[in-house]
Amino acid sequence: MSEIDSLKSELESLQADALQAFSAADNLNDLQKLRVQYLGKKGALTEVLKGVGKLAPTDRPMIGQHVNKTKSALAAALDSTEADLAVKAKAARIEAERVDVTLPGRSKGKGALHPVQHGLDEITAIFSQMGFVVAEGPEIEDEFHNFDALNIPAEHPARAMHDTFFVKQMADQPMLLRTHTSPVQIRAMKRFLAEGGEPPLAVVAPGRVYRCDYDVTHSPMFHQVEVFKVDRDVSMAHLKGVLKHFLSTYFEKEVEIRLRPHYFPFTEPSAEVDIGCVFCAGKGCRICKGSGWIEVLGSGMIHPKVLESVGIDSEEFSGFAFGLGVERLVMLKQGIPDLRLFFENDVRFLSRMGVSK
Ligand code: PHE
Repeated sequence: MSEIDSLKSELESLQADALQAFSAADNLNDLQKLRVQYLGKKGALTEVLKGVGKLAPTDRPMIGQHVNKTKSALAAALDSTEADLAVKAKAARIEAERVDVTLPGRSKGKGALHPVQHGLDEITAIFSQMGFVVAEGPEIEDEFHNFDALNIPAEHPARAMHDTFFVKQMADQPMLLRTHTSPVQIRAMKRFLAEGGEPPLAVVAPGRVYRCDYDVTHSPMFHQVEVFKVDRDVSMAHLKGVLKHFLSTYFEKEVEIRLRPHYFPFTEPSAEVDIGCVFCAGKGCRICKGSGWIEVLGSGMIHPKVLESVGIDSEEFSGFAFGLGVERLVMLKQGIPDLRLFFENDVRFLSRMGVSK
């Protein structure tokens, strides 16, 4: 075979191989590699061209034409294959990214107010609407405000009953986590007088309190709302009226209340307040242990000693006060059986009982 014929057949088989390789390529990357392999500077076609130098000068133009034809055939095949692959790649991408609009939506996990926070807000709002002013006090309290000023002297058995968490000893007295919101009575009255106020004074004080206790109905941290009013001629009748209005508003129905004589060092007389069972309407059930009544809070007429401890003349002024447990009221309203559910932060409980705004 002459040099020229062998070059020609070399070109033909190169073209055949290349076209087959192009049609076998299934992605643009591979195709780009093939382009370099056949048409690149060090590619197969360049290799063939090197043989042209050995030809007689008269034969060169002819073989040159062949080379150019092969080159443009390969380039054309590459371009059209590339276009096809680009279309396929796009189709595949669209397919992969397809959104199934028939799938159910994903929940955003919207937050909600904790049921206790919601209860606090609700309770506080009812008293605000009745004209009570919101006040707060520190959770780390001193012995004076938590006990002494409330007529609970050091040797008083009520101190032991409070299961107090003491935190540290300050220079003059022990510090503790307040065991009730009643110290806010003292702080609010002192602040009010210091600002030149004169009774009447009506305050609602929501907040956290702490006692060393833990079971189905007790948690070491819980919430109370303290409510009190000081004025001339305040009587038990006012206390009872405010309680009845509050409880009926909170439970969204007319509730019966009864005051049972009790003892608190800082009120005299004192009463525990029961409501007619909201579950059985007083007939007697498991929740009220068959009695038809449920105890909800402690109350009384502010002890003269407490008024005097902040400098209010107890001959001229009197007041009522009560303190209620928020968790207990929320449990009764929402039918929650175990106080600990509030603090375990199980999302199933929180999303069911939480209140979204
Ligand atoms: N501070 C009392 C308690 O925590 C409740 C109370 C408040 C009682 C005000 C009477 C008056 O048990």
